[in-house]
Order: sequence, then C-alpha cells, then structure tokens
Amino acid sequence: MKILNVSYILQNNEVISGKSLAFEKTILKIAPLDELLQIYPDAQVIDTPANSIVMPGLINAHVHLEFSANKTHLKYGQFMPWLYSVIENREDLIEGSFEAMKKATHKMLQSGITSFGAISSHGMDLEVAEQAKQNVVFFNEVIGSQATMADALLDDFKSRLAASESIKREGFYPAVAIHSPYSVHPALIKKAIEIAWLNKYPLSAHYMESPAERQWLDKNKGEFKTFFNDLLKQDYAVNTSTGFLELFKDVPTLFTHVVHANEEEYKEIKEQGHSIIHCPISNRLLGNGSLDLDAVQKHGIRWLCATDGLSSNYTLNLFEEMKIALFMHKDANLLELAKALLNSVTIEAAQALNLNTGSIELGKNADLIVLDLEDEATEQLPIHLILQQYVISHRFINGHFVNIDE
Ligand code: BEZ
Ligand code: FE2
Repeated sequence: MKILNVSYILQNNEVISGKSLAFEKTILKIAPLDELLQIYPDAQVIDTPANSIVMPGLINAHVHLEFSANKTHLKYGQFMPWLYSVIENREDLIEGSFEAMKKATHKMLQSGITSFGAISSHGMDLEVAEQAKQNVVFFNEVIGSQATMADALLDDFKSRLAASESIKREGFYPAVAIHSPYSVHPALIKKAIEIAWLNKYPLSAHYMESPAERQWLDKNKGEFKTFFNDLLKQDYAVNTSTGFLELFKDVPTLFTHVVHANEEEYKEIKEQGHSIIHCPISNRLLGNGSLDLDAVQKHGIRWLCATDGLSSNYTLNLFEEMKIALFMHKDANLLELAKALLNSVTIEAAQALNLNTGSIELGKNADLIVLDLEDEATEQLPIHLILQQYVISHRFINGHFVNIDE
C-alpha cells in the first residue's frame, strides 16, 4: 500500500486540495492525509515537493515506434513526397532502429506517458514494447492492396498477432490495425476486423489523412493515381471511403487523422461509436491541413490527441502535441480546449483503448504522474499544464513507482 502526499489532485479538470491518495495496483481511497494514515498505518508514505499535483498518466493512443530512427531523412511539407521518401528510406530507417525505439519509449515515459498504442507494421517493435515500462496496446497492422497477396499478408499478420498474444506481462494488450482505405484490400480488412471483433481487441485505422486520399477514393484521380499506376499497376482504389467505413459497422474503431472527412462520414463515425485520433503536428508537417475540431465536437464524436510516429513528428511528447493543438485551433475557447485536450489524452483515450485508467477515481489503475507546479494552482491550471511543461517528479504505473534512470 502506498500513500501519495500531495498538495493537489487533478480530477475531471478540477483541482482538489487537502486530499491525498492511497493505492496499490488500483486507487483505493482519496481522503485527507491524516485519515489515510489512520486507515493504512503500515502504508509507505511518498512525500512530494510543495505545490505538487497528481494527475492521470498520459495516454498516447497512436505512435509508430518502428520509424523512430527518423530525424531528417524524410521529406516534409506535402503528403505524397513524404510517402515516397518513406519508401525510399525504409531500409535506412529500419536499420539500427532498436536503440531508437528504446530511446523513444523512454522519452515518452520521461514526458509523462504511462500508456501508449503502438501501431506495428512489421513486428520489429514487439521486443521494445514488451520491455517498455508503460501499458502498451500493441496494434498489429495489416497492409497491402493487391488481391493476389492477400492470403500471404493475412498469414503474416496472424503470425505477428500470435507473437504479441504470447506476451503475458501486466499492461500489455494485443490489438489490430488496418493501415488505410487506399492500402488494404477489402477481403483482408474483413478478416482482420473479424479477428478483432471475435477477440474484443481494440481496432484502429488511418482514415482520410490527405487531400490525395480523398481524391483517389472519390474519383480514382490525383497523385495516388500515379503512385498506384507506377508501383502497383492499379487504376482504381480498392475501397471507396463509405464502403470502407461500412466494413467497421458495429465495431467501434479508432480512426486516425480524419482531416478530410465529409458530413456523411462524421455522421457514420458518430453513429457507430468510433473515435477520432487527432495528430496535429503530423498533419501540419505532412501538409494535410488540420482536423475540423468544431465539426467533430458538434457531431459529438469522441476524439483523442496523439503524436503519430517520429516519421512525422520531432517529438513524442503529448504536452508539446497539446500545445500545438491549442495554437492550431485558434478560434476555440482557450480554457475549454485545454480541458478537452487533457481529457483526450487521459479519460477519453483510456475509454477508446479499453484501459482501466485515465482518471483519478476509486478502482482505476494507479497510472499517475506528479508535477511540481512551483506555485499555487489557479482555475486556469489546464492551460498552464499544457504551456509550462512542469517537471514531473514521480511516475507510477499499475501502482508501481517507475524509476526513469534505470
Ligand atoms: C499498398 O500495398 O497498396 C500500399 C502500401 C503502402 C503504401 C501505400 C499503398
Ligand atoms: Fe500513423
């Protein structure tokens, strides 16, 4: 049993003072310190600096560890030149990426990320994800639009999935990802969705990321036409955008990007209980525009903020990502947006990923971070949490203290 002695608790974006936390794997009691000491006299008491706040550890729902070796290899500014540069540099990026992936995972921990969703294209990140201190939702991805390759690709996907299922550590969860509507054959999509559904695994897919994707799926035209003609001898997209969404009926899914969706698609996303993952830095760097957050909120769709991978970001720091989002959505009410962003990387992300975490309440797993505010908390704290990048003094995952120097 541990008792965390703190000045403040951040609960549903409200600052609570005068209470501390008692926890083992889960949070057991929230009460004044002297009361907790009476109930649990043998507990280990953890003192924190004055004006410290405990909040839920952050959840990065969408990251590609396998491309962690990128710093300056890839071409930014527009989606298609970036995609060509990924294909061109794939071998260089993958080579020696083990250390880069470990470093990326560690940096996420340093910046307060206690759970992440890893989109794994090749399974090369499995060992790093297994060894990570965080909770990991390990999304085995299917990719490949050619019908002739579908059986072989499905077998490869199944063997990667089985490898992830064989990992039995606390806080490690296998899951399924579909790369995108333009890059996966519908037969393959159906099979992968069925596997996710039967096993109740979280499911994720990139969707409507670029203007080129919109044009290719709607009209079989644009920059993807050249790409598919040249590289795969294809004249037509393998899915339409609505046909793709229909495949996910009744299987709530995390759709990443959704920058170029239309009204009908938002409606369908809402109706089917899907969530949207918003990656503002990636969208900006790849010239994809920005998510219409206003429309997403008007439709009442759950949305999360995430970093994407280091192939389209310079950091995997959710405080930085939220800061960029705060400036990107310039017409939104500042405090309300700050609160929504913090929810999006805690309680909303936990619910979308089916994790028992993301808020400080009884019974939730004790995935916690303690920040040194240096000053007293104000009612605008959500804004300052995003802007200030406060020093994190303690991290706990599933109730265990995490030493970041190990
Ligand atoms: C494909 O197999 O169709 C594909 C793979 C990667 C990127 C784009 C398309
Ligand atoms: Fe991604």
